Amino acid sequence: MIHKLRLKKTSEEILVPTYTRPGLAIKPAKYEIPDKEMLPDTAYTLIHDELILDGNSRVNLATFVTTWMEPEAKKLMEETFDKNMIDKDEYPQTAELEMRCVNILANLWNAPEGEEAIGTSTIGSSEACMLGGMAMKWKWRERMKKLGKPVDRPNMVMGENVQVCWEKFCRYWDIEPRLVPMEKGRYIMTAPEMIKRCDMNTIGVVGIMGTTFTGEYEPIAQMNDALEELNKRTGWEIGIHIDAASGGFITPFIQPHLKWDFRLKWVKSINVSGHKYGLVYPGVGWIVWRTKEDLPEELIFNVNYLGGDMPTFAINFSRPGNQIVAQYYNFIRLGREGYTSIQKTAQEVAMFLADEIEKLGVFEMTSRGEDIPVVTWKIKDDANVNFSLYDFTDRLRINGWLIPAYSMPKNIEDMVIARIVVKHGFSKDLAAELIDDMKRHLEYFKEQEGLRPTKRSANFHHS
Ligand SMILES: Cc1ncc(COP(=O)(O)O)c(C=O)c1O
Repeated sequence: MIHKLRLKKTSEEILVPTYTRPGLAIKPAKYEIPDKEMLPDTAYTLIHDELILDGNSRVNLATFVTTWMEPEAKKLMEETFDKNMIDKDEYPQTAELEMRCVNILANLWNAPEGEEAIGTSTIGSSEACMLGGMAMKWKWRERMKKLGKPVDRPNMVMGENVQVCWEKFCRYWDIEPRLVPMEKGRYIMTAPEMIKRCDMNTIGVVGIMGTTFTGEYEPIAQMNDALEELNKRTGWEIGIHIDAASGGFITPFIQPHLKWDFRLKWVKSINVSGHKYGLVYPGVGWIVWRTKEDLPEELIFNVNYLGGDMPTFAINFSRPGNQIVAQYYNFIRLGREGYTSIQKTAQEVAMFLADEIEKLGVFEMTSRGEDIPVVTWKIKDDANVNFSLYDFTDRLRINGWLIPAYSMPKNIEDMVIARIVVKHGFSKDLAAELIDDMKRHLEYFKEQEGLRPTKRSANFHHS
């Protein structure tokens, strides 16, 4: 018996060679919705091929954000792409995992026993910082109203080295940022400079554990002591929000004795990026408040249109649930032991790079990866070279390395530094390859007689 051949696919799918199909052979409309549909694999190929033009994320040494995860984590994420984090009534188990993560973080950051710490996931540290700042503003306003004082001039004290999210927070929520300037050789805020700028209208101060510019820790214990003295003397209650976007997942594992967290009395809230050293693909962040009282009730909305009565404190409503699942996967898969060995290894690679970059002879290190595994450097003041760091990092792009060069904040904006963020997945072997490429490019510059260093405004470097 002869079976009739049944065509399940269209002739385009079967017969037309991939790159001669209408969707691929002609220049597609890019900024208007096309009139006609196309086959899924034609659309896939079109977009997949365009994305080849992106840099390779594995050699993106500019970003703090995770660029490698285990296949099992990826699988879990794929299985949970369809879950909306806000649907807590429909996905109670995802909500349970979120709550476990908040508890794990509160414990890692030594939340006081017997007090009820409270926290939530966010889309990243920026949202978490906004929430932390808002809680401080609301608490301050409550206090001032009770005292019968005006509430129209709130300010917040922080270093010029803050990440842009703090400038956004101040602008969006009408708060005067009181910025401690940086100096050559000092790229963090100090306690005396901080205290000078505090007054009755200070809603709080920001301390950073792992600054975006150099990766250094700010002296949180000293800031706490200075505030203890000031608050005692004045009756004010100025607390600290810790922006631990990177450091929140480093210190508990490799510098556990460093006191910067809830062990310090005036630390009221802490944020971290799960997608940085929490080792999850972007976007997940976390914030934890020391006690329930540090998060004013007024900021929490109860919604019932999802079924159940859901308290929410967030800027966005819908948000992917799969990053939370992946965060929990990392916690149980790695445990303390796994996180410690990953962060220690990253630090060793960073320190190796710092030594090797210094040995190149023309650079001066501005941080060596001793706090978070971030290495930054500048050209020595007396180095007689015909290139700038912009030129040097541009050359490294030839080999695929994505390394930013940028100017420092106000007061030292003439200083240009380059930065490497060492993350899980960047091995010592790759680091040695990078150093070899650096040596080759230094030789190249030596051969270019008459070349002049390029001066250029800063690249984007905050991620
Ligand atoms: C210190 C600091 N705070 C906040 C942020 C913002 O984090 P996110 O990208 O998770 O919003 C960053 C990002 O690099 C950072 O370094």
